[in-house]
Amino acid sequence: MTSPLRFAIIGCGRIAKNHVAPLAQLPGAKLVALCDLVAEKAHVYAGSHNLPVYANYHTMLLEEEVDVVCVLTPSGMHSAHAMDVMCRYRKHVVVEKPLVLAWGDLAKMKSTASECGVKIFPVYQNRYNKAVQKVRNDLLSGALGRPALGTVRVRWCRPQRYYNRDPWRGTWAMDGGALTNQGIHYIDLLQYLLGDVESVFARMATQLVRVEVEDTAVASVKFKNGALGVVEVTTAARPNDFEASISILAENGAAIITGIACNHLSTYTLDPSMTSLYSEEFPDAYGLGHWQFFRDVIADLTKGVPHPISFDEGARAIRLLNALYRSAENNHEVRLDESVTSLNLGRSDPKLSALYETQPET
Ligand SMILES: NC(=O)c1ccc[n+]([C@@H]2O[C@H](COP(=O)([O-])OP(=O)(O)OC[C@H]3O[C@@H](n4cnc5c(N)ncnc54)[C@H](O)[C@@H]3O)[C@@H](O)[C@H]2O)c1
Repeated sequence: MTSPLRFAIIGCGRIAKNHVAPLAQLPGAKLVALCDLVAEKAHVYAGSHNLPVYANYHTMLLEEEVDVVCVLTPSGMHSAHAMDVMCRYRKHVVVEKPLVLAWGDLAKMKSTASECGVKIFPVYQNRYNKAVQKVRNDLLSGALGRPALGTVRVRWCRPQRYYNRDPWRGTWAMDGGALTNQGIHYIDLLQYLLGDVESVFARMATQLVRVEVEDTAVASVKFKNGALGVVEVTTAARPNDFEASISILAENGAAIITGIACNHLSTYTLDPSMTSLYSEEFPDAYGLGHWQFFRDVIADLTKGVPHPISFDEGARAIRLLNALYRSAENNHEVRLDESVTSLNLGRSDPKLSALYETQPET
């Protein structure tokens, strides 16, 4: 494809700013249109960039010349919206996390992309954090030696008013709980750093809010390489967000990445002088990784350089997520080589999905 690539956005809520800013500024990208069911939300971003706004994405894709569509709608709609865009309009799609909720939707999405000759780019922007890259490289090169234990800790604060903000939040059909919405980045990083998981045993509870999903999850993890892991993810921290951290204890030393979104390399025993070099300040928990993520999308589609986060890479966290839920549902250890899916995550709720479906205008 030729540069600049023309991008459009469906869903202009909280995460849209992290797409609009890079797409409006990166060489090789051109943001051409915005869409939200609530057009005023799109207007918030459109004004300063003088962009056309649509409330119906079919109309947008019929009227505008677009190469790539960013799907930033409620999580339970990602697969339906992305497949519609790929099938009907043959556009590449960038899909926010979580790529899908139900494990079964992954296969449908993958075959749709292949039949339509387009690509799916899943967003996991925290993979680009400097500290994460440093630790991954030193695990891959063997400098850190054999990993013994990986621990993820997400302690964020999401009170009832957060879940009350939109009908999709805190539901099994559209959102999933703390582990899915907030924890997925760090669930992804565990496998990104330590490799595939063999089995999990999880427990979950809804502690401090009235929602059907969990606000607190803990799990023990066994990796295929023999390392063990611990997951602690909660949105029941009060009164503020405290941390999203990951620590790796390995044969040759310890690496501890702390901060609001795994952005500070706070301990690095191999070379303590590296800690400041590989730490960065983030304006918020969304971080800065979308910029490099989009540079990689552009390089993939215009120069044929494969994106480092392929569809299959993106799918690994969804598989682990489903296994964690199934383990808590069955109160049992779950092996990932079994075909396990959560009984709740991504379950169908036609009334809720009807709120977010868009039919072509007649
Ligand atoms: N990468 C990250 O760190 C990160 C951070 C926040 C959110 N997200 C993900 O992004 C997605 C959106 O989250 P959010 O917090 O921005 O939610 P939000 O509710 O603020 O925004 C979603 C927007 O989608 C719009 N929408 C829904 N259906 C639509 C349709 N058919 N056509 C056009 N617009 C439609 C809604 O009107 C809403 O404005 C979620 O899946 C979430 O998990 C990712």
